[in-house]
Formats: sequence, structure tokens, C-alpha cells
Amino acid sequence: MPASGTFDCHNAPALPFDAAILGAIVVKSVTLHPQKGNPPPRLAETPSGLINSIGIPSPGIDVFIQQILPVYTALGSPVIVSVAGYSANEYAELVAALDGLKSVEAIELNLSCPNIRYHRMPAQDKDLLQECVAMARGATAKPLWAKLSPDVPSVGEMAQAAEVAGADACTVINTTSAMMVNIHTLRPMIGATRGGLSGPALLPIALAAVWDATHHANIPVIGVGGISTVEDVVAVFAAGASAVQIGTASFYDPMAMPRLIGELDRYLKDKGIASIEELKAKIRQSQ
Ligand code: DOR
Repeated sequence: MPASGTFDCHNAPALPFDAAILGAIVVKSVTLHPQKGNPPPRLAETPSGLINSIGIPSPGIDVFIQQILPVYTALGSPVIVSVAGYSANEYAELVAALDGLKSVEAIELNLSCPNIRYHRMPAQDKDLLQECVAMARGATAKPLWAKLSPDVPSVGEMAQAAEVAGADACTVINTTSAMMVNIHTLRPMIGATRGGLSGPALLPIALAAVWDATHHANIPVIGVGGISTVEDVVAVFAAGASAVQIGTASFYDPMAMPRLIGELDRYLKDKGIASIEELKAKIRQSQ
């Protein structure tokens, strides 16, 4: 499935592939109230990866539900809505607004955006993380995923905390906080000075985090971070992921997701493995 924020097709004239081939579509995080996001420049391409400081521009949950959600629903794939709050109460309000909507398959709580001026980032503060997840849990019976940050001493402990507070799955990981300087202007390359690093540099960080999360928590872990080849997909499954999300690879190649789905099919066929479930069973046996 696409990682949140990397598959914004509601403004695009047409998708280059049939979205129904995806396991699900995760939409860009939506906030309770409308907000503009961070000042430009918001993206810097560096040799080590992409740094973004988008800052979650959002139409607010009401406009999202009325105007944007129907566009995603029409694509024919299960829709996962990512929400970002500024307090546990806001997470509960966001989730409550989505709770009655049949078209919403699951809700991903974005607790880990590196580009928001929080008092505290929920994914970096166990008590706040648990408060946010528990309040959201109280507002819906829909599956709730907690999206975690790599910028903590132990992603595993955060995954375990999310599980205890009622999360049904963890999405591991968001981008990692980073900065790049333009050596001609001697100034940071992005307006907010720092942003979140994504792309291949994130893969080893994601693998360690997914491994850590699956060894601390007993809920499914959705692996995301730096995947661009079928070998990367298999590696993230081997680290313990139950599913994978693709982000930055789709910026460089809009056909990355259908390509990877096709390559994974061929990989499994070549190895004589009938399904992803069988691959995961093989991984479990080998460890
Ligand atoms: O790297 C990120 N950028 N992670 C998020 O969760 C949100 C996004 C943004 O809008 O800044």
C-alpha cells in the first residue's frame, strides 16, 4: 500500500495504473481544522535521500469527508485514513468523525510527523502516545494503526505501549529528522530548516525498527521506509512486517507500486512460494 502522503491523487487528472491492485490506499494525514503547512521550500533532494518539511497541509476533517474521501473510495481499494492531532482529544475527535463511515476500512494515527511544532511528539513520549491511542480507541471499533517514529531510543517499547493502549497494528516508521545545507547560500535547504529524511537511506533504519517492534509487541507491524526494490520488500517482510508501504519510490517512479507488485509475484513464483502468507511462514521457520 502507499505510505500516507505519497499518493495524493485527488488533484491528479488520472492515475497511471489501476489502484484496485493495491492492498489498500492510505491517504495523506488529515487534521481536525484546516491548516496551510510549512513555508517553502518544502522538499530537498539530496544524495542521501529526500528531505521534506510539508507540515501536513490539510483541508480539515469536514471538507476531507465531504470532498476528498469519495474520490479515494471510488478507486476501488480499501481506504485507510491517516489522522494527525495536536492533542489526545483531537485524535478522539478525528476518529469519531470517521467512525460511522462505511468507506473507511481503518484509521492510521500519525503520531510521528517530524515537521509539526508540537509541544511533544506523541511517538516520542510514551505517556502521550498511550493517551492519544487510548482516546482514539474509545471513539471507534474500526482497526487503529499507530504510526511510529524512528527518532526514539526503542521503537519496540513504543510499539508495545501502543498495543497496550489499544492499537491493532503499528506502522513502522515515519521519516527521520534531518537537515541539509546549501553550500552556496550557506543556509539550510528547506524553509523550516529541518525535515524528515526518506528514501533508500531509511531502509536499514526501518528494518531495525520493524524487527524491534515485532519483538516487543504482539500486533501486526506494517513496514515502511526506503523500499524501492523487490529485495527491499522481502527484507522488510523478513524483519517481521505483516504488510509493507511504499513512499518515496513512487515520487521517483509513479509506477513503482505496480512494478513492485509484479516483481514480488515473479519472485514468489521463482522460489516456488505460493503466497505472501507462505513467504511469511517460511520466514518464521527460518528464524
Ligand atoms: O515526513 C513526513 N512529512 N511525515 C509526516 O508524517 C507528514 C509529512 C508532512 O506533511 O510534513
